Amino acid sequence: MKSTTAMNPSPDARPSRSATRVPGISLREQVEGMRAMRKNQVDYLARMIAVYGDVVRIRAFGVNMIVLNHPDHFERVLVRNHENYDKNTLLFRAVEPILRGGLIGAVGGEPWRRRRRIMQPAFHRPQVAGFAKNMTDETGLMVRRWEREYSEDDAIDVCNELGQLVLRIVFRTLFGAEVGEGGEEIESIFVEGNQIMGQFFQLPFPPLTWPTPRNRRLRQIIGIMDGYVDEVIRRRDEEGEEHHDLLTLLVDGVDEETGIGMTPVQLHREVLNTIIGGYETSSNAIAWLIYLVGTHPHVQERLQAEVDGVLGGRVPTFDDLQRLQYTRMVVDEMLRLYTPAFQTMRRSIEADEIGGYHIPRKSNIYLNIYALHRHPDFWPSPDAFDPERFSPEQVAQRPRHAFVPFGSGPRNCIGKHFALTELTLVLAMLAQAFRMEIPEEHREVQFEPLITLRPKGGIYARMRRR
Ligand code: HEM
Repeated sequence: MKSTTAMNPSPDARPSRSATRVPGISLREQVEGMRAMRKNQVDYLARMIAVYGDVVRIRAFGVNMIVLNHPDHFERVLVRNHENYDKNTLLFRAVEPILRGGLIGAVGGEPWRRRRRIMQPAFHRPQVAGFAKNMTDETGLMVRRWEREYSEDDAIDVCNELGQLVLRIVFRTLFGAEVGEGGEEIESIFVEGNQIMGQFFQLPFPPLTWPTPRNRRLRQIIGIMDGYVDEVIRRRDEEGEEHHDLLTLLVDGVDEETGIGMTPVQLHREVLNTIIGGYETSSNAIAWLIYLVGTHPHVQERLQAEVDGVLGGRVPTFDDLQRLQYTRMVVDEMLRLYTPAFQTMRRSIEADEIGGYHIPRKSNIYLNIYALHRHPDFWPSPDAFDPERFSPEQVAQRPRHAFVPFGSGPRNCIGKHFALTELTLVLAMLAQAFRMEIPEEHREVQFEPLITLRPKGGIYARMRRR
Protein backbone atom coordinates (compact mmCIF):
# COMPACT_ATOMS: atom_id res chain seq x y z
CA MET A 1 0.00 0.00 0.00
CA LYS A 2 1.25 3.46 -0.78
CA SER A 3 1.70 5.68 2.22
CA THR A 4 1.49 9.44 2.20
CA THR A 5 1.58 10.13 5.89
CA ALA A 6 4.18 12.81 5.35
CA MET A 7 4.57 15.81 7.62
CA ASN A 8 1.71 18.08 8.35
CA PRO A 9 2.60 21.70 7.74
CA SER A 10 1.90 24.28 10.39
CA PRO A 11 -1.32 26.26 9.98
CA ASP A 12 0.33 29.26 8.44
CA ALA A 13 2.59 27.30 6.10
CA ARG A 14 2.31 28.16 2.43
CA PRO A 15 2.77 25.41 -0.14
CA SER A 16 6.46 24.68 -0.51
CA ARG A 17 8.30 24.32 -3.80
CA SER A 18 9.02 20.69 -3.04
CA ALA A 19 5.33 19.75 -2.86
CA THR A 20 4.44 17.20 -5.51
CA ARG A 21 1.42 17.06 -7.75
CA VAL A 22 -1.43 14.88 -6.48
CA PRO A 23 -1.32 11.63 -8.48
CA GLY A 24 -4.21 11.17 -10.86
CA ILE A 25 -5.70 8.04 -12.34
CA SER A 26 -5.76 6.97 -15.96
CA LEU A 27 -8.77 7.40 -18.22
CA ARG A 28 -9.37 3.66 -18.18
CA GLU A 29 -9.30 3.62 -14.37
CA GLN A 30 -11.70 6.55 -14.34
CA VAL A 31 -14.21 4.77 -16.55
CA GLU A 32 -13.88 1.59 -14.50
CA GLY A 33 -14.07 3.64 -11.32
CA MET A 34 -17.33 5.32 -12.34
CA ARG A 35 -18.77 1.90 -13.16
CA ALA A 36 -17.60 0.50 -9.81
CA MET A 37 -18.95 3.57 -8.06
CA ARG A 38 -22.40 3.13 -9.59
CA LYS A 39 -22.41 -0.53 -8.60
CA ASN A 40 -21.13 -0.11 -5.06
CA GLN A 41 -20.01 3.39 -4.21
CA VAL A 42 -18.84 2.81 -0.66
CA ASP A 43 -16.92 -0.32 -1.52
CA TYR A 44 -15.09 1.60 -4.24
CA LEU A 45 -14.42 4.46 -1.82
CA ALA A 46 -13.02 2.08 0.78
CA ARG A 47 -10.78 0.27 -1.71
CA MET A 48 -9.23 3.56 -2.81
CA ILE A 49 -6.68 3.54 0.01
CA ALA A 50 -5.32 0.14 -0.96
CA VAL A 51 -5.23 0.99 -4.65
CA TYR A 52 -4.15 4.64 -4.73
CA GLY A 53 -2.92 5.55 -1.24
CA ASP A 54 -4.11 8.41 0.95
CA VAL A 55 -4.40 11.16 -1.68
CA VAL A 56 -5.61 10.78 -5.24
CA ARG A 57 -7.14 12.93 -7.96
CA ILE A 58 -10.19 11.52 -9.70
CA ARG A 59 -12.79 12.80 -12.10
CA ALA A 60 -16.38 12.12 -11.08
CA PHE A 61 -19.64 13.63 -12.30
CA GLY A 62 -17.64 15.76 -14.73
CA VAL A 63 -15.53 17.39 -12.02
CA ASN A 64 -11.94 16.91 -10.85
CA MET A 65 -11.75 16.02 -7.20
CA ILE A 66 -8.93 15.40 -4.79
CA VAL A 67 -9.88 12.52 -2.52
CA LEU A 68 -8.40 12.56 0.99
CA ASN A 69 -8.33 9.43 3.15
CA HIS A 70 -5.90 10.13 5.99
CA PRO A 71 -6.53 11.56 9.51
CA ASP A 72 -3.76 14.19 9.15
CA HIS A 73 -5.30 15.39 5.92
CA PHE A 74 -8.74 15.69 7.47
CA GLU A 75 -7.20 17.65 10.33
CA ARG A 76 -5.46 19.98 7.90
CA VAL A 77 -8.67 20.78 5.98
CA LEU A 78 -11.15 20.86 8.85
CA VAL A 79 -9.07 22.31 11.66
CA ARG A 80 -5.54 23.55 11.09
CA ASN A 81 -6.17 25.43 7.86
CA HIS A 82 -9.98 25.50 7.91
CA GLU A 83 -10.11 29.18 6.88
CA ASN A 84 -8.78 28.10 3.50
CA TYR A 85 -11.65 25.71 2.78
CA ASP A 86 -15.27 26.57 2.12
CA LYS A 87 -18.39 24.69 1.08
CA ASN A 88 -18.67 26.19 -2.41
CA THR A 89 -18.77 22.68 -3.87
CA LEU A 90 -20.86 20.45 -6.09
CA LEU A 91 -22.38 18.54 -3.18
CA PHE A 92 -23.73 21.56 -1.35
CA ARG A 93 -24.59 23.60 -4.43
CA ALA A 94 -26.85 20.77 -5.65
CA VAL A 95 -29.02 20.97 -2.52
CA GLU A 96 -28.86 24.74 -2.09
CA PRO A 97 -32.54 25.19 -3.18
CA ILE A 98 -33.52 23.18 -0.09
CA LEU A 99 -30.92 24.31 2.42
CA ARG A 100 -31.19 27.95 1.21
CA GLY A 101 -27.96 29.15 2.75
CA GLY A 102 -28.79 27.52 6.11
CA LEU A 103 -26.01 26.27 8.35
CA ILE A 104 -25.41 22.86 6.72
CA GLY A 105 -24.48 24.11 3.26
CA ALA A 106 -23.59 27.77 3.94
CA VAL A 107 -20.46 28.57 1.94
CA GLY A 108 -18.61 29.87 5.01
CA GLY A 109 -17.01 33.12 6.12
CA GLU A 110 -18.65 35.76 8.26
CA PRO A 111 -22.32 35.11 7.30
CA TRP A 112 -22.00 31.45 8.39
CA ARG A 113 -19.97 32.35 11.50
CA ARG A 114 -22.52 34.90 12.67
CA ARG A 115 -25.38 32.42 12.44
CA ARG A 116 -23.40 29.65 14.08
CA ARG A 117 -22.68 32.03 17.00
CA ILE A 118 -26.39 32.74 17.36
CA MET A 119 -27.38 29.07 17.22
CA GLN A 120 -24.57 27.38 19.11
CA PRO A 121 -25.83 28.06 22.67
CA ALA A 122 -29.11 26.29 21.86
CA PHE A 123 -27.13 23.07 21.35
CA HIS A 124 -24.93 23.27 24.45
CA ARG A 125 -24.95 20.53 27.06
CA PRO A 126 -27.50 22.05 29.52
CA GLN A 127 -29.98 22.60 26.68
CA VAL A 128 -29.49 19.07 25.35
CA ALA A 129 -29.97 17.76 28.90
CA GLY A 130 -33.33 19.53 28.90
CA PHE A 131 -34.29 17.84 25.62
CA ALA A 132 -33.40 14.33 26.83
CA LYS A 133 -36.88 13.76 28.25
CA ASN A 134 -38.41 14.26 24.79
CA MET A 135 -36.16 11.45 23.60
CA THR A 136 -37.07 8.99 26.36
CA ASP A 137 -40.80 9.90 26.32
CA GLU A 138 -41.06 9.29 22.59
CA THR A 139 -38.97 6.10 22.74
CA GLY A 140 -41.17 4.83 25.61
CA LEU A 141 -44.26 5.42 23.46
CA MET A 142 -42.69 3.54 20.55
CA VAL A 143 -41.59 0.60 22.73
CA ARG A 144 -45.09 0.24 24.19
CA ARG A 145 -46.65 0.45 20.75
CA TRP A 146 -44.30 -2.25 19.42
CA GLU A 147 -45.23 -4.45 22.37
CA ARG A 148 -48.92 -3.92 21.60
CA GLU A 149 -48.91 -4.10 17.82
CA TYR A 150 -46.30 -6.72 16.97
CA SER A 151 -45.96 -10.31 18.00
CA GLU A 152 -42.52 -11.53 19.05
CA ASP A 153 -42.12 -13.40 15.78
CA ASP A 154 -42.86 -10.43 13.56
CA ALA A 155 -39.89 -9.08 11.66
CA ILE A 156 -40.39 -5.33 12.12
CA ASP A 157 -39.31 -2.97 9.36
CA VAL A 158 -37.47 -0.75 11.82
CA CYS A 159 -36.36 1.99 9.40
CA ASN A 160 -39.83 3.44 8.92
CA GLU A 161 -40.57 3.19 12.62
CA LEU A 162 -37.31 4.88 13.58
CA GLY A 163 -37.80 7.63 11.01
CA GLN A 164 -41.05 8.43 12.75
CA LEU A 165 -39.45 8.25 16.19
CA VAL A 166 -36.60 10.58 15.29
CA LEU A 167 -38.90 13.05 13.59
CA ARG A 168 -41.19 13.11 16.63
CA ILE A 169 -38.17 13.81 18.83
CA VAL A 170 -36.89 16.62 16.60
CA PHE A 171 -40.33 18.19 16.24
CA ARG A 172 -41.10 17.98 19.94
CA THR A 173 -37.70 19.46 20.73
CA LEU A 174 -38.26 22.30 18.30
CA PHE A 175 -41.91 23.06 18.86
CA GLY A 176 -42.71 21.59 22.28
CA ALA A 177 -46.00 19.95 23.14
CA GLU A 178 -47.89 21.89 20.44
CA VAL A 179 -46.56 19.54 17.84
CA GLY A 180 -49.59 17.34 18.59
CA GLU A 181 -51.93 19.73 16.77
CA GLY A 182 -51.25 19.44 13.06
CA GLY A 183 -47.99 17.70 13.92
CA GLU A 184 -48.72 14.51 12.03
CA GLU A 185 -49.55 16.43 8.90
CA ILE A 186 -46.33 18.43 9.01
CA GLU A 187 -44.36 15.25 9.73
CA SER A 188 -45.74 13.53 6.65
CA ILE A 189 -45.09 16.65 4.55
CA PHE A 190 -41.45 16.58 5.66
CA VAL A 191 -41.14 12.86 4.92
CA GLU A 192 -42.49 13.46 1.42
CA GLY A 193 -39.91 16.22 0.87
CA ASN A 194 -37.18 13.94 2.13
CA GLN A 195 -38.26 11.20 -0.28
CA ILE A 196 -38.02 13.65 -3.17
CA MET A 197 -34.52 14.53 -2.00
CA GLY A 198 -33.60 10.84 -1.84
CA GLN A 199 -34.78 10.36 -5.44
CA PHE A 200 -32.75 13.37 -6.47
CA PHE A 201 -29.61 11.88 -4.94
CA GLN A 202 -30.20 8.66 -6.85
CA LEU A 203 -30.17 10.60 -10.10
CA PRO A 204 -29.11 14.24 -9.59
CA PHE A 205 -30.82 15.45 -12.73
CA PRO A 206 -32.64 17.68 -13.56
CA PRO A 207 -31.30 20.21 -11.04
CA LEU A 208 -33.61 21.21 -8.22
CA THR A 209 -33.89 24.72 -9.68
CA TRP A 210 -35.72 23.49 -12.79
CA PRO A 211 -39.50 23.93 -12.63
CA THR A 212 -40.39 20.23 -13.01
CA PRO A 213 -43.53 18.94 -11.22
CA ARG A 214 -41.30 17.19 -8.66
CA ASN A 215 -39.31 20.34 -7.93
CA ARG A 216 -42.45 22.46 -7.76
CA ARG A 217 -43.85 20.08 -5.16
CA LEU A 218 -40.60 20.35 -3.20
CA ARG A 219 -40.90 24.13 -3.18
CA GLN A 220 -44.49 23.86 -2.06
CA ILE A 221 -43.40 21.58 0.79
CA ILE A 222 -40.73 24.07 1.88
CA GLY A 223 -43.38 26.82 1.80
CA ILE A 224 -45.69 24.72 4.01
CA MET A 225 -42.86 24.07 6.49
CA ASP A 226 -42.02 27.80 6.65
CA GLY A 227 -45.71 28.61 7.13
CA TYR A 228 -45.89 26.12 10.00
CA VAL A 229 -42.99 27.84 11.80
CA ASP A 230 -44.66 31.24 11.32
CA GLU A 231 -47.93 29.88 12.66
CA VAL A 232 -46.33 28.44 15.82
CA ILE A 233 -44.57 31.76 16.49
CA ARG A 234 -47.73 33.79 15.82
CA ARG A 235 -49.78 31.62 18.18
CA ARG A 236 -47.15 31.99 20.87
CA ASP A 237 -47.06 35.77 20.51
CA GLU A 238 -50.83 35.82 20.96
CA GLU A 239 -50.83 33.51 23.96
CA GLY A 240 -47.85 35.22 25.57
CA GLU A 241 -46.86 32.01 27.42
CA GLU A 242 -43.26 31.04 28.08
CA HIS A 243 -41.92 28.03 26.19
CA HIS A 244 -38.79 26.00 26.79
CA ASP A 245 -38.04 24.51 23.41
CA LEU A 246 -35.46 24.81 20.69
CA LEU A 247 -37.56 27.20 18.61
CA THR A 248 -37.70 29.66 21.53
CA LEU A 249 -33.94 29.42 21.94
CA LEU A 250 -33.46 30.14 18.24
CA VAL A 251 -35.99 33.00 18.18
CA ASP A 252 -34.38 34.60 21.25
CA GLY A 253 -30.78 33.83 20.24
CA VAL A 254 -28.50 36.75 19.53
CA ASP A 255 -24.95 37.06 18.33
CA GLU A 256 -23.07 38.13 21.45
CA GLU A 257 -20.68 40.25 19.40
CA THR A 258 -23.39 42.31 17.71
CA GLY A 259 -26.48 41.76 19.85
CA ILE A 260 -28.42 40.92 16.66
CA GLY A 261 -30.58 37.82 16.24
CA MET A 262 -31.96 36.01 13.19
CA THR A 263 -34.49 37.44 10.78
CA PRO A 264 -37.71 35.42 10.25
CA VAL A 265 -36.38 34.27 6.86
CA GLN A 266 -33.13 33.02 8.40
CA LEU A 267 -35.12 31.33 11.12
CA HIS A 268 -37.16 29.36 8.54
CA ARG A 269 -33.99 28.15 6.90
CA GLU A 270 -32.33 27.12 10.12
CA VAL A 271 -35.37 25.28 11.41
CA LEU A 272 -35.48 23.24 8.20
CA ASN A 273 -31.70 22.70 8.27
CA THR A 274 -32.00 21.44 11.84
CA ILE A 275 -34.72 18.96 10.91
CA ILE A 276 -32.81 17.81 7.82
CA GLY A 277 -29.55 17.53 9.79
CA GLY A 278 -31.10 15.44 12.52
CA TYR A 279 -33.55 13.23 10.65
CA GLU A 280 -31.97 10.69 8.32
CA THR A 281 -28.62 10.65 10.07
CA SER A 282 -30.08 9.66 13.43
CA SER A 283 -32.80 7.31 12.17
CA ASN A 284 -30.33 5.36 10.05
CA ALA A 285 -27.90 5.28 12.94
CA ILE A 286 -30.48 3.68 15.26
CA ALA A 287 -31.47 1.18 12.55
CA TRP A 288 -27.80 0.19 12.16
CA LEU A 289 -27.51 -0.12 15.95
CA ILE A 290 -30.38 -2.62 16.02
CA TYR A 291 -28.79 -4.51 13.13
CA LEU A 292 -25.34 -4.70 14.71
CA VAL A 293 -26.56 -5.57 18.19
CA GLY A 294 -29.01 -8.09 16.72
CA THR A 295 -26.22 -9.86 14.83
CA HIS A 296 -23.68 -9.84 17.70
CA PRO A 297 -25.19 -11.70 20.68
CA HIS A 298 -22.12 -11.32 22.92
CA VAL A 299 -22.25 -7.52 22.49
CA GLN A 300 -25.97 -7.59 23.23
CA GLU A 301 -25.43 -9.55 26.45
CA ARG A 302 -22.86 -7.10 27.73
CA LEU A 303 -25.00 -4.15 26.71
CA GLN A 304 -27.99 -5.54 28.56
CA ALA A 305 -25.91 -6.29 31.65
CA GLU A 306 -24.76 -2.66 31.74
CA VAL A 307 -28.21 -1.22 31.10
CA ASP A 308 -29.80 -3.43 33.76
CA GLY A 309 -27.04 -2.65 36.25
CA VAL A 310 -27.16 1.12 35.76
CA LEU A 311 -30.90 1.59 35.34
CA GLY A 312 -32.44 -1.28 37.30
CA GLY A 313 -35.53 -1.14 35.08
CA ARG A 314 -36.22 2.61 35.25
CA VAL A 315 -36.26 5.06 32.35
CA PRO A 316 -32.76 6.50 31.67
CA THR A 317 -32.04 10.19 32.19
CA PHE A 318 -29.36 12.50 30.85
CA ASP A 319 -27.35 12.02 34.07
CA ASP A 320 -27.17 8.26 33.46
CA LEU A 321 -25.20 8.76 30.26
CA GLN A 322 -21.83 8.94 31.96
CA ARG A 323 -22.40 5.49 33.47
CA LEU A 324 -23.66 3.92 30.25
CA GLN A 325 -20.09 3.59 29.01
CA TYR A 326 -20.36 0.36 27.06
CA THR A 327 -23.62 1.53 25.47
CA ARG A 328 -21.72 4.58 24.23
CA MET A 329 -18.87 2.37 22.93
CA VAL A 330 -21.42 0.42 20.88
CA VAL A 331 -22.78 3.71 19.51
CA ASP A 332 -19.28 4.91 18.57
CA GLU A 333 -18.37 1.66 16.85
CA MET A 334 -21.61 1.84 14.84
CA LEU A 335 -20.74 5.43 13.88
CA ARG A 336 -17.35 4.23 12.66
CA LEU A 337 -18.56 1.28 10.63
CA TYR A 338 -21.81 2.67 9.20
CA THR A 339 -21.09 6.35 9.52
CA PRO A 340 -24.34 8.04 8.41
CA ALA A 341 -22.62 11.15 6.98
CA PHE A 342 -20.19 9.09 4.91
CA GLN A 343 -18.79 11.90 2.79
CA THR A 344 -18.41 15.64 2.64
CA MET A 345 -16.73 18.14 0.41
CA ARG A 346 -14.76 21.38 0.57
CA ARG A 347 -13.16 23.76 -1.92
CA SER A 348 -9.71 25.22 -1.40
CA ILE A 349 -9.79 29.01 -1.54
CA GLU A 350 -6.02 29.40 -1.99
CA ALA A 351 -3.35 26.82 -2.77
CA ASP A 352 -2.27 24.60 0.11
CA GLU A 353 -0.01 21.68 0.87
CA ILE A 354 -1.40 18.46 2.29
CA GLY A 355 0.79 15.51 3.21
CA GLY A 356 3.53 16.83 0.94
CA TYR A 357 1.17 17.29 -2.01
CA HIS A 358 0.37 20.55 -3.72
CA ILE A 359 -3.32 21.45 -3.60
CA PRO A 360 -4.08 24.06 -6.25
CA ARG A 361 -6.47 26.90 -5.42
CA LYS A 362 -10.14 26.21 -6.15
CA SER A 363 -9.69 22.44 -5.91
CA ASN A 364 -12.67 20.27 -5.05
CA ILE A 365 -11.77 18.23 -2.00
CA TYR A 366 -13.63 15.01 -1.28
CA LEU A 367 -13.38 13.98 2.37
CA ASN A 368 -13.78 10.22 2.23
CA ILE A 369 -15.13 9.65 5.74
CA TYR A 370 -16.26 6.10 4.98
CA ALA A 371 -12.74 5.03 3.93
CA LEU A 372 -11.09 6.97 6.77
CA HIS A 373 -13.14 4.99 9.29
CA ARG A 374 -11.80 1.76 7.77
CA HIS A 375 -8.24 2.89 7.19
CA PRO A 376 -6.15 -0.25 7.89
CA ASP A 377 -3.32 1.76 9.52
CA PHE A 378 -5.65 2.77 12.35
CA TRP A 379 -8.34 0.11 12.41
CA PRO A 380 -7.13 -3.52 12.49
CA SER A 381 -9.70 -5.85 10.82
CA PRO A 382 -11.55 -2.71 9.73
CA ASP A 383 -14.77 -4.45 8.69
CA ALA A 384 -15.27 -6.20 12.04
CA PHE A 385 -17.73 -4.79 14.59
CA ASP A 386 -15.83 -4.44 17.85
CA PRO A 387 -16.96 -1.83 20.42
CA GLU A 388 -13.72 -2.44 22.37
CA ARG A 389 -12.00 -0.14 19.88
CA PHE A 390 -13.63 2.68 21.82
CA SER A 391 -12.32 1.72 25.25
CA PRO A 392 -10.43 4.74 26.69
CA GLU A 393 -7.10 2.88 26.27
CA GLN A 394 -7.61 2.19 22.58
CA VAL A 395 -8.97 5.67 21.86
CA ALA A 396 -5.85 7.20 23.44
CA GLN A 397 -3.65 5.29 20.99
CA ARG A 398 -5.30 6.61 17.83
CA PRO A 399 -5.04 10.00 16.15
CA ARG A 400 -8.15 12.01 16.98
CA HIS A 401 -8.99 12.53 13.33
CA ALA A 402 -9.16 8.82 12.53
CA PHE A 403 -12.79 9.05 13.69
CA VAL A 404 -14.90 12.00 12.58
CA PRO A 405 -18.55 10.94 12.31
CA PHE A 406 -19.58 14.50 13.18
CA GLY A 407 -16.85 16.25 11.21
CA SER A 408 -14.33 18.39 13.06
CA GLY A 409 -13.22 21.96 13.66
CA PRO A 410 -15.49 25.01 13.54
CA ARG A 411 -17.90 23.39 11.06
CA ASN A 412 -18.45 20.23 13.02
CA CYS A 413 -21.98 19.01 13.59
CA ILE A 414 -23.91 21.45 15.75
CA GLY A 415 -26.22 18.59 16.77
CA LYS A 416 -23.41 16.26 17.89
CA HIS A 417 -24.33 16.22 21.61
CA PHE A 418 -27.99 16.03 20.75
CA ALA A 419 -27.39 13.03 18.47
CA LEU A 420 -25.09 11.18 20.87
CA THR A 421 -27.55 11.69 23.71
CA GLU A 422 -30.40 10.48 21.52
CA LEU A 423 -28.59 7.41 20.18
CA THR A 424 -27.34 6.32 23.60
CA LEU A 425 -30.69 6.78 25.35
CA VAL A 426 -32.68 5.06 22.59
CA LEU A 427 -30.26 2.13 22.45
CA ALA A 428 -30.37 1.77 26.24
CA MET A 429 -34.18 1.70 26.22
CA LEU A 430 -34.36 -0.81 23.38
CA ALA A 431 -31.82 -3.09 25.09
CA GLN A 432 -33.79 -2.77 28.31
CA ALA A 433 -37.08 -3.80 26.72
CA PHE A 434 -36.10 -6.28 24.02
CA ARG A 435 -33.73 -8.97 22.90
CA MET A 436 -33.00 -7.91 19.33
CA GLU A 437 -32.71 -10.56 16.64
CA ILE A 438 -32.11 -10.24 12.93
CA PRO A 439 -33.79 -13.15 11.11
CA GLU A 440 -31.46 -15.24 8.98
CA GLU A 441 -33.04 -14.09 5.71
CA HIS A 442 -32.46 -10.40 6.61
CA ARG A 443 -28.84 -10.64 7.70
CA GLU A 444 -27.41 -9.72 4.33
CA VAL A 445 -27.84 -5.94 4.13
CA GLN A 446 -26.36 -3.70 1.49
CA PHE A 447 -25.73 0.00 1.59
CA GLU A 448 -27.68 2.61 -0.24
CA PRO A 449 -25.43 5.66 -0.06
CA LEU A 450 -27.74 8.60 -0.81
CA ILE A 451 -27.86 11.67 1.41
CA THR A 452 -26.80 9.38 4.23
CA LEU A 453 -25.67 5.78 4.39
CA ARG A 454 -28.98 3.96 4.32
CA PRO A 455 -29.54 0.22 4.58
CA LYS A 456 -30.86 -0.86 1.18
CA GLY A 457 -34.32 -2.40 1.43
CA GLY A 458 -34.50 -1.61 5.15
CA ILE A 459 -33.61 -3.52 8.30
CA TYR A 460 -35.91 -6.17 9.69
CA ALA A 461 -35.67 -7.20 13.31
CA ARG A 462 -37.52 -9.41 15.77
CA MET A 463 -37.90 -7.62 19.05
CA ARG A 464 -38.38 -10.30 21.75
CA ARG A 465 -39.68 -9.04 25.09
CA ARG A 466 -37.19 -9.55 27.91
C1 HEM B 1 -25.95 10.52 14.00
C2 HEM B 1 -26.36 11.74 13.76
C3 HEM B 1 -25.60 12.79 13.01
C4 HEM B 1 -24.47 12.69 12.24
C5 HEM B 1 -23.67 11.44 11.91
C6 HEM B 1 -24.16 14.02 11.76
C7 HEM B 1 -23.06 14.33 10.99
C8 HEM B 1 -22.69 15.62 10.62
C9 HEM B 1 -21.45 15.97 9.95
C10 HEM B 1 -20.35 14.99 9.53
C11 HEM B 1 -21.46 17.31 9.80
C12 HEM B 1 -20.32 18.15 9.17
C13 HEM B 1 -20.42 18.13 7.67
C14 HEM B 1 -19.24 18.83 7.01
O1 HEM B 1 -18.19 19.05 7.63
O2 HEM B 1 -19.37 19.14 5.82
C15 HEM B 1 -22.70 17.83 10.31
C16 HEM B 1 -23.08 19.15 10.29
C17 HEM B 1 -24.30 19.60 10.76
N1 HEM B 1 -25.24 18.86 11.46
FE1 HEM B 1 -25.11 16.91 11.92
N2 HEM B 1 -25.10 14.90 12.23
C18 HEM B 1 -25.98 14.19 13.01
C19 HEM B 1 -27.06 14.71 13.72
C20 HEM B 1 -27.45 16.01 13.69
C21 HEM B 1 -28.54 16.56 14.46
C22 HEM B 1 -29.37 15.77 15.48
C23 HEM B 1 -28.66 17.87 14.10
C24 HEM B 1 -29.62 18.92 14.60
C25 HEM B 1 -30.43 18.77 15.63
C26 HEM B 1 -27.62 18.15 13.12
C27 HEM B 1 -27.43 19.36 12.50
C28 HEM B 1 -26.30 19.69 11.76
C29 HEM B 1 -26.03 21.02 11.23
C30 HEM B 1 -26.97 22.22 11.33
C31 HEM B 1 -24.77 20.97 10.62
C32 HEM B 1 -24.02 22.11 9.95
C33 HEM B 1 -23.11 22.79 10.95
C34 HEM B 1 -22.27 23.94 10.38
O3 HEM B 1 -21.76 23.84 9.27
O4 HEM B 1 -22.10 24.93 11.11
N3 HEM B 1 -26.91 17.01 12.91
N4 HEM B 1 -23.43 16.78 10.84
